Amino acid sequence: MAAAAHVLVLPWPLQGHINCMLHFATGLAGAGVHVTFLHTEHNLRRLARRAPSSADASPRLRFLSIPDGLPDDHPRSVDGLLELAASMLATATGEYRSLLSSLSSASDAVVGGVPPVTCVVADGLMAWAIDIAEELGVPALAFRTASACSFLAYLSVPELLESGELPFPASGGGGGLDEQVRGVPGMEGFLRRRDLPIQCRRRGDAMLRTLVDLTVHSRKARALILNTAATLEHAALAHIAPHMRDVFAIGPLQVMHPTPSGSLWREDDGCMAWLDAQADRSVVYVSLGSLAVISHEQLAEFLSGLVAAGYPFLWVLRPDSMVAASQNQDNTTPQAAIRAAAGNNKARIVAWAPQRDVLRHRAVGCFLTHAGWNSTLEVVVEGVPMVCWPFFADHQINSRFVGAVWGNGLDMKDVCERDVVERTVREAMESDEIRRSAEALAQQVKRDIAAGGSSATEFQRLVGFIRELST
Ligand code: UDX
Repeated sequence: MAAAAHVLVLPWPLQGHINCMLHFATGLAGAGVHVTFLHTEHNLRRLARRAPSSADASPRLRFLSIPDGLPDDHPRSVDGLLELAASMLATATGEYRSLLSSLSSASDAVVGGVPPVTCVVADGLMAWAIDIAEELGVPALAFRTASACSFLAYLSVPELLESGELPFPASGGGGGLDEQVRGVPGMEGFLRRRDLPIQCRRRGDAMLRTLVDLTVHSRKARALILNTAATLEHAALAHIAPHMRDVFAIGPLQVMHPTPSGSLWREDDGCMAWLDAQADRSVVYVSLGSLAVISHEQLAEFLSGLVAAGYPFLWVLRPDSMVAASQNQDNTTPQAAIRAAAGNNKARIVAWAPQRDVLRHRAVGCFLTHAGWNSTLEVVVEGVPMVCWPFFADHQINSRFVGAVWGNGLDMKDVCERDVVERTVREAMESDEIRRSAEALAQQVKRDIAAGGSSATEFQRLVGFIRELST
């Protein structure tokens, strides 16, 4: 008789990674697979405080934790990412090894009716989790939370270096960022230097080297799982496939397998009543995800542009949204500056929003976003136009796809000026063409996730693949 499948799911411990891997875990549990979702202790404590309901999402889904090695008051923000990675390597690897060793050995784990762990799905940013699992005899798959197009760009970096397309020639002024890039397959017609991950602009960037190594490492995993849909990224997926042992495109998971909130911050539901009081498609929703930071000067540009555009706006300003070293000259808080410029009725500010509910609210007319991949997928399925101000990593290429391929929004890349904010927001709010493209894209993606669609079929194939590995 086939052993019951039990998957250990291990996300990189940041919000954007937890969210989509939690949707994935929920989908697996719904398909009859046992799942242990492994948080860090720090995040599990935060979740228990913020969203206790996530603990009882499904009887087949349980939450365990390992330490990340950082003190509890460490900010774990964008400036601390390398520290987090180093600390995970030093502390979490050993804890993970002994936990997995115990959970995968039948004698320990059958206790309580939960079968032994038979398979690991680890965030591809944690290559060590894949290697350790395989060393222990547990088959491991890599899950990347970013877009297929960004994965392909990282995968292509070695060839770009070999052909001399990277590093960019040192040049004054604009640095030739509008030059076309030819070495990322399938994107020859529209990809420019400025659309590559921003680390490509710095010679010998350590973060770029790490991300490329981690991307190439996914070849070792039994398969690569991507939270994307064929409609959005068919060409990129086709170019990735020959490099991997198998590829599953199973998204957008947010819609296929909704979960109770996995938010590390407390969601401010009060903004929903404020949205209820606004006219249809009249509001600009502004959020830069969980990591991006802005300076006080950039905040002033966004604010002036939004006020000049004239629409009411809902702005997510996390407690850590401002660049740490950036000084505000007149000592007002960002919140006070926004209220003073826009007035209480026109602007609503929250520290964290129930984003998926906001995006599907009838009052939202466009989304000013950093083009993080979760945010991109969440707005695509709602058919709402985007204005993109990409921050780092995959955002640069995601925003190029929005502006130049899918046509569901505009890309402000590399510019943060009030006039540009005003113009792009107005256009996204008023353009019939962008609205039509956004709605058509949403319809296509909904076909991918419906029964018989490509993502739904791939998800079923993945469940079969995991069961097969578990025998
Ligand atoms: C990052 C990367 O940007 C992303 O591309 C990668 O694959 C995962 O990690 P982040 O920068 O935080 O994540 O952006 P995004 O991918 O958009 O994820 C943010 C998540 O937080 C979304 O699921 C969004 O719905 C949620 N969110 C954001 C809220 O629930 N409330 C908010 O107020 C803001």
